[in-house]
Amino acid sequence: MAVSLALIAGARPNFMKIAPLVHALSGDADFDPILVHTGQHYDDNMSGQFFRDLDIPPPRYHLEVGSGSHAQQTAEIMKRLEPVLLETRAAGLIVVGDVNSTVAGALVAAKLGIKVVHVEAGLRSFDRSMPEEINRIVTDSISDLLLITEESGRANLLREGIAAERIHAVGNLMIDSLKKNLARALESDVVERLQLPQRYGLVTLHRPANVDDSRQLGEILGALEAIGGEVPLIWPMHPRTKARIESNGVRLPNQLRFTDPLGYLDFLCLQAKSAVVLTDSGGIQEETTVLGVPCLTLRDNTERPVTVEHGTNRLAGTKKQTILAAWENCKTNPRTGLQPPLWDGQAGLRCRAVLRQFFLSDAVRTS
Ligand code: UD1
Repeated sequence: MAVSLALIAGARPNFMKIAPLVHALSGDADFDPILVHTGQHYDDNMSGQFFRDLDIPPPRYHLEVGSGSHAQQTAEIMKRLEPVLLETRAAGLIVVGDVNSTVAGALVAAKLGIKVVHVEAGLRSFDRSMPEEINRIVTDSISDLLLITEESGRANLLREGIAAERIHAVGNLMIDSLKKNLARALESDVVERLQLPQRYGLVTLHRPANVDDSRQLGEILGALEAIGGEVPLIWPMHPRTKARIESNGVRLPNQLRFTDPLGYLDFLCLQAKSAVVLTDSGGIQEETTVLGVPCLTLRDNTERPVTVEHGTNRLAGTKKQTILAAWENCKTNPRTGLQPPLWDGQAGLRCRAVLRQFFLSDAVRTS
């Protein structure tokens, strides 16, 4: 009988990681993948469009939790997921990334005695004021299998006392999606639709530390205003950022152009063709690295050091002066960037091989 594995997806950055995994497992008769959407993200341009762009089958369960405080959202996912896992009798639960859906899923499964697999394990910013860092630490500490995207993850996990045999380097699922879809994405007419010139920069911002405090946001906007005077900037705005800007009455510089969040293919096309990307996202640091596009990360730290060591990413800080200094540096010292090890589009197959070994080996079946 096929082994049932539940997969949790809830927020936008989960979908490009879950897609190659669902596809790899669906092609293996020994597995029955059960996709569960928590509903953490629910707008069509934050969720539905990604399912269509990435050809993800409709989730078997939809928990429809919606927004809320961290505690409310995490608790609601836990309450609604528990009966689903009991009903499906899944042998394992796979969670990806570091969002609230990730930690909520891992907690429910671990307490039911269901094996927890964390994909993208071991990343650490060492900044516990980030909600994602808490989610990463908790999820890793209760996972049975820890699949890493870069070697920093292994070092962090070993330091935290995780047994070496539970850690496996599989590469980067997000890059599987990128490699599979890049040619299709480049056919998008998004550049024309948004009436962008040939040379433009791309902005994304949504982290609470950057957008919740008007003074902090003002620092970043000051830098974007100056850079926007040199190269036109387009900013697909996250709904959370939009809400904060509106409620705080923040004035937006005329140098910036805005649009609603874009689908996967349109956004990938914009990234690939942009002269520079300014972002506080984790995944975009990885995507720009593989695309060879200069990235200025508007943070003081990154949990993805390989993107700085191998890639085109630079930490620009969050003050106007640090961001402008990084921009000058970016112009005078352009970096080409190298593809990090195993970011080759085959991570889904490597994950499947590890899962086969773990869930289908005789030792596990008879225990
Ligand atoms: C979440 C993740 C973050 C990830 C980001 C990508 C956590 C702790 N954070 O942050 O790591 O980088 O997703 O987007 O899980 N909203 C909508 N429509 C939606 C979803 C959200 O309008 O479809 C608005 C709501 O006002 C909501 C707010 O965005 O309250 C925040 O959403 P939430 O899922 O709590 O966190 P994100 O900021 O999206």
